[in-house]
Amino acid sequence: MTIIAPSVLSLDYSRFEQQMLDLHASKAQWLHFDVMDGHFVPNLTFGPDILKAFRKASHLFLDVHLMVEDPDFFSDVFIDAGAQMITFHTEALDNDSQRIMALIKKIRDRGVKAGLTVKPKTPVETLFPYVGEVDLFLIMSVEPGFGGQSFIPQSLDKIASLRKLIDQQQSAALIEVDGGINSYTGSLCKQAGANVLVAGSYVFKEDIIVAVDSLW
Ligand code: DX5
Ligand code: ZN
Repeated sequence: MTIIAPSVLSLDYSRFEQQMLDLHASKAQWLHFDVMDGHFVPNLTFGPDILKAFRKASHLFLDVHLMVEDPDFFSDVFIDAGAQMITFHTEALDNDSQRIMALIKKIRDRGVKAGLTVKPKTPVETLFPYVGEVDLFLIMSVEPGFGGQSFIPQSLDKIASLRKLIDQQQSAALIEVDGGINSYTGSLCKQAGANVLVAGSYVFKEDIIVAVDSLW
């Protein structure tokens, strides 16, 4: 069963209420929330008060993707605001395994799911030591920072090799893919072993219900 996680970065905020009604009428189970600090990536998005508003407006699972220089600090901020999953970049902690393991523990100790992600240029092997330690791996299939970019095909190899290791180690970790997802690229990712599809521009450009259900 595939989980669909629309990225609210691409939501039309001038029609917030109707868009939320459509999302709730679709097969979407999660809301993907892209937090960008203008340093780790060259864009600035939402703070915790906006997540609190989504918590009030939706029953869907709040999947927070931290594209920030200080995920240690912001994980607490967004958990306090209602995050149910916190995914952070290994690059933000200089791929230091002690710091990464400490943050995974901190997130989980607060009763929140922990996810780990890498940018497209970072080898997927960077994630391998954490199989069995996290609830989710996020494969970025675009350079983080903006919606509406094209899917990077090499992401499929990353998904497949991670899927192989997760299955070998009998881990329950999910594989989420994020960036340039539509019905075609989404089906390739599912075939490669992904469980969760994040889509922004594809979902919010026309009919939300039709788009989400086409990814399922
Ligand atoms: C990019 C974000 C993605 C993005 C997806 O940095 O992490 O979640 O919003 O947008 P689309 O689906 O338009 O590529
Ligand atoms: Zn994202």
